[in-house]
Amino acid sequence: MLLTAGWSWLIVLYSLPVTGFLGTGATFEADANLVVQLVMAAALVAGAFLAKQKRYRAHGICQTTVLLLNLWMIGLVMWPTFRRQVNPTFPKALHRSYYAAPIAHAALGMAAEFLGLYIVLVAGTNVLPVWLRFRNWKLWMRAEFVLWLVVVISGIGTYYAWYIGPFR
Ligand code: HEM
Repeated sequence: MLLTAGWSWLIVLYSLPVTGFLGTGATFEADANLVVQLVMAAALVAGAFLAKQKRYRAHGICQTTVLLLNLWMIGLVMWPTFRRQVNPTFPKALHRSYYAAPIAHAALGMAAEFLGLYIVLVAGTNVLPVWLRFRNWKLWMRAEFVLWLVVVISGIGTYYAWYIGPFR
């Protein structure tokens, strides 16, 4: 069952178009990732407004969905691209923006995902012991929100350094 699902997923992946749809010469995955990331960033902003309106349950569901969906995007697009395009040259090429941009982005991105997972564990479950739980929820969630936006901006920077800047 799991094997069949895996194969059908691979077939879907390999039947996707190779070139993107935003007219930049990027790959299909990069364009799709960019659009999905912008939609998810908009969802996070909407989720922050839900918290402002004290609709905490809806806020929790919204932000957790984005966090988990993004794990999927990392596994499907960003991690494999990073390993293919960046990892072999690390750390020799840190001075070139083609490599420096995704390396800074990936480091910040991992921090944002781990911090997000930690916040979800504290806010949505009781699995962590008291000494590992924070009390100042607002501060932690605001920090995560700002970090996430910085990661989206550095992702856009990576897209620019790879598909737009070199062709100007
Ligand atoms: C909160 C977590 C993250 C967010 C919001 C995020 C957001 C983005 C955005 C907006 C882009 C531009 C679209 C694109 O070029 O595909 C991007 C690209 C990229 N990200 Fe992330 N990212 C995150 C985590 C990560 C992590 C953990 C890694 C490394 C393992 C990573 C590696 C990359 C790479 C290599 C690209 C370029 C992909 C390509 O253009 O083909 N990202 N990211």
